[in-house]
Amino acid sequence: MKKGLPGRVFELIIIFEKVMRLQNKVAIITGAGRGLGRSIALLFGKEGARVVLAATHPEEIEHVATELRVLRKQVLAVPTDVSDEEQVNRMVRKALDSFGTVDILVNNAGVRGPIAPIHEIPIAEWDHTLRVNLTSAFLCTKAVLPTMIEKKQGKIINIATTLTPRPNLTAYMVAKAGMIHFTKQLSREVKEHNIQANCIHPGVMDTRMQEEIRQAGPKAIGTDMFERLKEEGMLRSPDEPARLVLFLASRAADGITGEYLSFDDKETKFLISQM
Ligand SMILES: NC(=O)c1ccc[n+]([C@@H]2O[C@H](COP(=O)([O-])OP(=O)(O)OC[C@H]3O[C@@H](n4cnc5c(N)ncnc54)[C@H](OP(=O)(O)O)[C@@H]3O)[C@@H](O)[C@H]2O)c1
Repeated sequence: MKKGLPGRVFELIIIFEKVMRLQNKVAIITGAGRGLGRSIALLFGKEGARVVLAATHPEEIEHVATELRVLRKQVLAVPTDVSDEEQVNRMVRKALDSFGTVDILVNNAGVRGPIAPIHEIPIAEWDHTLRVNLTSAFLCTKAVLPTMIEKKQGKIINIATTLTPRPNLTAYMVAKAGMIHFTKQLSREVKEHNIQANCIHPGVMDTRMQEEIRQAGPKAIGTDMFERLKEEGMLRSPDEPARLVLFLASRAADGITGEYLSFDDKETKFLISQM
């Protein structure tokens, strides 16, 4: 019997939903108002996830939420300073109240911190940089783990950076190196609960953070290098590494945990091209 248009549309929706990689998953993404976090949020939404957006500025996450709602996606924007335990706990409670669970956590929020030689870094700036880039991952992870452990399932993806030293960016680089080891510790602890934790270096991306680093001037950070990267097309859109995060959040990566993957590696790029 020949099917009418509504029947065929319904079939197509079912087929489409089958290929959506995060169908019905609930994902918290920190730093989701712009840059890489926004790219991850939009991609996760398109792949069927219900998305919780956290960042300090309400306007930016609200804007991303609107972009997702236009696509008829379920989304919650919760203004949150991820370096503050109370605010993190409140954000996770809101996610649980709205969506009933949390399946995926992406610890993406970050600040570049002071650009200065070590002997000139004020202690307050050092503390703030470590708190936003590293302690935040501990706080968000701590808040979602009870739910993930109870359901014996979860994915945590942490955004780090290169391990190559970058002079004058020590607080940031040390926090990110800590993120890599935090991921490895975490992955061992939660393996028995079927929770996978991985960490990525997204490569050099064309985002506000990178813009700020370039604007700091050649003396501080080597603008020449970043201009060259841009000219040579190596300053990539955050949409590209967002696909690596999607891969790690999907069932295809169920066997991968405790890894530090760099988007600059050929193997990683090959992996993503197969998605
Ligand atoms: N750009 C690069 O080339 C590059 C390279 C390697 C690694 N990374 C890493 O990739 C991640 C994303 O970077 P990006 O380039 O997309 O940076 P970005 O454009 O500056 O975005 C950073 C995000 O983090 C949020 N954020 C900052 N402090 C926060 C806080 N205390 N609480 C909650 N949210 C906070 C910001 O929102 P609010 O300002 O509203 O809080 C923003 O949404 C970062 O972890 C960064 O370290 C970037």
